[in-house]
Amino acid sequence: MKVLNIGSMNLDHVYNVDHIVQPGETQATDGMNIFLGGKGMNQSIALAKAGADVYHGGMIGEDGQLFLDACKEYGVNSDYIRQIEGKTGHAIIQIDKSAQNCILLYGGTNECLTEEYVDEVLEGFEAGDMLLLQNEVNRLSYIVDKAYEKGMQIALNPSPFNDRLKEVDMSKISLFLMNEVEGGQITGLTEPEDIIAKVVELYPNAKIVLTLGKDGAIYAEGDLRIHQPIFQVEAVDTTAAGDTFTGYFLAGLIEGMKIAEILKMSAKASSIAVTRKGAVPSIPYRNEVMEAMK
Ligand code: RIB
Repeated sequence: MKVLNIGSMNLDHVYNVDHIVQPGETQATDGMNIFLGGKGMNQSIALAKAGADVYHGGMIGEDGQLFLDACKEYGVNSDYIRQIEGKTGHAIIQIDKSAQNCILLYGGTNECLTEEYVDEVLEGFEAGDMLLLQNEVNRLSYIVDKAYEKGMQIALNPSPFNDRLKEVDMSKISLFLMNEVEGGQITGLTEPEDIIAKVVELYPNAKIVLTLGKDGAIYAEGDLRIHQPIFQVEAVDTTAAGDTFTGYFLAGLIEGMKIAEILKMSAKASSIAVTRKGAVPSIPYRNEVMEAMK
């Protein structure tokens, strides 16, 4: 089975701050680094580092060569990435003393996908292949409709949640991977069990992974619930922790591993990612994750 991830590529401008800047406040920062990121690219690299055969689709601008280099370095197929005129997407990220972040997004070329481009990419895939999506590129509902028509399985990380997701026919999604904030935005509920019950009721054929920050993650499918606690670590940067979890989870699912084992591996991988700075550079390789699990 091939995995196609049509998703964002962002140059992350990361600022270390004392606290997340408040309205009207000016704050000097402790330093700035530029890392490769974007939920799409982070998840593709996590998939590849976990051992999956992954194809990344999306658009970069004239300043985006670094993403093609990263794909080569980490084993992500970049044949479907198009370099066009304009600026690659970027993010302005503040990391506070407790490793929490807040993110401002500039879509750039992530928002330049056309229907023709989507059709061309999907031609390379067939029924049974897996499509992974997040909400940082345009044409999302078109991509979902066309992939579903082909019989592809569709995994959606509805992040960041906004009105664009309301245009997507969620009944075509086979796997939701979301955090409790996004789950709350989709269902209007706050308690994890209620969110899960609602998503199961709305989309009975879908599998669900709900991540809960310090409370771990819950997998749900029909009446089945499996809880995975987090591994306690000293976090320095939580950016891409969720993306690492998503990539590892999908890789384990494709391999046919047992769900409890996949959850454990994914939690361990994201616990390693938060101990390192940056998005793409923080994602661990599979052998490192397996070694840490011993
Ligand atoms: O999930 C983390 C990612 O969100 C960052 O890399 C940033 O680019 C934004 O897309």
